[in-house]
Amino acid sequence: MNALKILEQDHQNVKGLFQEMGRASDQNRRKELFDRIDTELEIHAHIEETVFYPAIEHHEELSEMVAEALEDHQEAKALLEELEELGSDSHEFGSKLQELMEGVEHHVQEEEGEMFPKVRELFNEGQLEQLGQDLESAKGTAHREAV
Ligand SMILES: [Fe+2]
Ligand SMILES: [Fe+2]
Repeated sequence: MNALKILEQDHQNVKGLFQEMGRASDQNRRKELFDRIDTELEIHAHIEETVFYPAIEHHEELSEMVAEALEDHQEAKALLEELEELGSDSHEFGSKLQELMEGVEHHVQEEEGEMFPKVRELFNEGQLEQLGQDLESAKGTAHREAV
């Protein structure tokens, strides 16, 4: 599958989990959903950082976007760590989660609105398919390691 489609699917998936989290009141369910969000974001960030960004950042028009994206990832990871420590039943959890969600939303908008269209201009379909395969295999490895 095309690399950009894979990453967009991940984005949709996480968005859906955040929405579910917003509706969930049961404590066990909230914990379960947060763990999934945590894992999915970690893996998504990992495959972008190890496969996708390194494959695109040598293009002058993309290098700055990648640098910004890496900063966003660091912020999200720091928030995830704070949330892990707080636990989903803590008082501050909701507002921190909101902060994470807004940060992720903003980051996704930049990727889908600026970075991916540029990548579509600079890479052909064959290259994006190949990159998609590399992403899939990195994701497979990351999932096996996460369980
Ligand atoms: Fe992404
Ligand atoms: Fe990203």
